[in-house]
Amino acid sequence: MKKILIVFGTRPEAIKMAPLVKELYKHIEFATKVCVTAQHREMLDQVLSFFKITPDYDLNLMKANQSLNELSSRILTAIDTVLIEFKPDFVLVHGDTSTSSMVALASFHRNIKVGHVEAGLRTYNKLAPFPEEINRQITGCLADFHFAPTKQSAQNLLNEGVNTNSIFITGNTVIDALFWGINNINKKRKDINEIASFINNEKKLIVVTGHRRENFGDKFYEFCSALKELANRKDVQLIYPVHLNPNVQKVVYETLGQHSNIKLIAPLDYEAFIWLLNQSFLIITDSGGVQEEAPSLKKPVLVTREVTERQEAVEEGTVKLVGTNKEKILEEASLLLDDKTVYANMIGNANPYGNGTAAKQIVKALKLF
Ligand code: UD1
Ligand code: UDP
Repeated sequence: MKKILIVFGTRPEAIKMAPLVKELYKHIEFATKVCVTAQHREMLDQVLSFFKITPDYDLNLMKANQSLNELSSRILTAIDTVLIEFKPDFVLVHGDTSTSSMVALASFHRNIKVGHVEAGLRTYNKLAPFPEEINRQITGCLADFHFAPTKQSAQNLLNEGVNTNSIFITGNTVIDALFWGINNINKKRKDINEIASFINNEKKLIVVTGHRRENFGDKFYEFCSALKELANRKDVQLIYPVHLNPNVQKVVYETLGQHSNIKLIAPLDYEAFIWLLNQSFLIITDSGGVQEEAPSLKKPVLVTREVTERQEAVEEGTVKLVGTNKEKILEEASLLLDDKTVYANMIGNANPYGNGTAAKQIVKALKLF
């Protein structure tokens, strides 16, 4: 029996690994264990609770306002104990976080095979996304199997000389999670009711998120200033669940806290958040996962980044890169709010990130080994 250790640490990794955990549990030929680094604490626990996943190992590593180096060193040291105790045949990691790259490195040091879920996304700009572009490249470099969500991400790996037999195009598990999530929303929940009572159906709802490190500093202030001006329009209202990173909290609450047309709330758990996305007219975000989910919900997205490693949706026309320039954000948002044809063109296309079967395809590939 092959032993598989699935490791993740942040909110988006947990959401995207949850379908794979559930699928692997169904296959008794694998002994599957889950380890969380808890690089995120509260935001991770929200996901574990919704998907009813109880980790076998919880490294509980998050510290307030952690630096990349201190966090990375804690992960590298703490995961080793689990690798020594469980002795997995495969370790599965996800995406581009400190957890992914450090766990892949620790597994390599212990001569354990690594499978990389959501492999091959690239901007080839090491500063954007920072530090995620390099985290993903490091993980890819160490991985033995690459589960690429799209043809484009597989092609990036082939261009880098990765052996074609180790690459599997599977779609993105984020769509598996979304389909499962949408079917399991309890609309009677108190917090969903509270948000529903704030939503004014006469207005167009704009849902906002933002947390990327490369946008910190002046760019983040400019982004918030654009939101403030947008909220002055009488026909819109904004809801912004604010990421718990103190660098985000400080700027957002300081600049947008007093605006009567902007509701700042704590991060929502996945169930409430996808419900909220479904109520929206428009999404403004720098989130990777939200860019991937929105086309399935037929919602247009303005992405507040200069470049994206998720070029597929840009090419499909369902998301648009606007950066953090205030004028550009206002111009593109106004276009979508005022021009029905522009809006319709943006929501018409298919989701390039998968059809909800990615976890099944990853397990099928794992069986080959
Ligand atoms: C991390 C990932 C990023 C991902 C994002 C998803 C890295 C380098 N960054 O960035 O790729 O897009 O997660 O959200 O891996 N905090 C809490 N509670 C939580 C979560 C965070 O208080 O549940 C606060 C803590 O003070 C923590 C800080 O946020 O130190 C930053 O967390 P960290 O995981 O280091 O970085 P993120 O910006 O969240
Ligand atoms: N999300 C959530 N609650 C929120 C905001 C986002 O559950 O308040 C979900 C969202 O649906 C997506 C994921 O979190 O699946 C994205 O996480 P984040 O934006 O933190 O990270 P990224 O995807 O940019 O790495």
